[in-house]
Amino acid sequence: ARLVVLISGTGSNLAALLEAAADPGYGAQVVAVGADRHSATGLEHARAAGSPVFVERVGDYAERSAWDRALATQVAQFEPDLVVSAGFMKLLGPAFLTAFAGRTVNTHPALSPAFPGMHGPRDALDYGVKVTGCTLFVVDDGVDTGAILDQRAVEVAADDDVESLHERIKIAERSMLVEQVGRMAREGWIIDGRTVRVGG
Ligand code: GRF
Repeated sequence: ARLVVLISGTGSNLAALLEAAADPGYGAQVVAVGADRHSATGLEHARAAGSPVFVERVGDYAERSAWDRALATQVAQFEPDLVVSAGFMKLLGPAFLTAFAGRTVNTHPALSPAFPGMHGPRDALDYGVKVTGCTLFVVDDGVDTGAILDQRAVEVAADDDVESLHERIKIAERSMLVEQVGRMAREGWIIDGRTVRVGG
């Protein structure tokens, strides 16, 4: 299966996918990596693996919908079977979802529906939960609201700060992402709305 991965930051989830995809038996390869900023250090992982990269900055467009369309156009040129948003800090809009709804998954560093949005680990820590975790879901037009594909629980340590908690969540998140994307690639999952069927 052909994967396009979208990132905004360090790209450790991307790095885990690239490492897994190096095994021919994994069933998926990263055909391109996109970012919303040139400063996304994770782009180095893509370059090192020889994957094409592209950057689409919201600020380069007069309006958000033009950025959304430009991003969809960039992704479409690589003909992905699955788009993986892993640490991509922009909401994907109508044009993108029209093109790739049902074929775009996202990882979120909290146990949805708890703590949606940009600060899952911080919000979990501030709330005082004893267990948080990460969620893999199908992207829809909400904020971290799509059909849930998998979740992993992560204990909150008494001496955790946001950084230490998020790093621990990311360990679970990377293995969840690699495992599920590999299964989808090998078993041909078809995602339509809130159900996930194993397709032919
Ligand atoms: C991940 O925890 C992701 O869920 C969140 O930001 C983090 C990105 O980490 N949105 P990385 O860029 O994959 O290292």
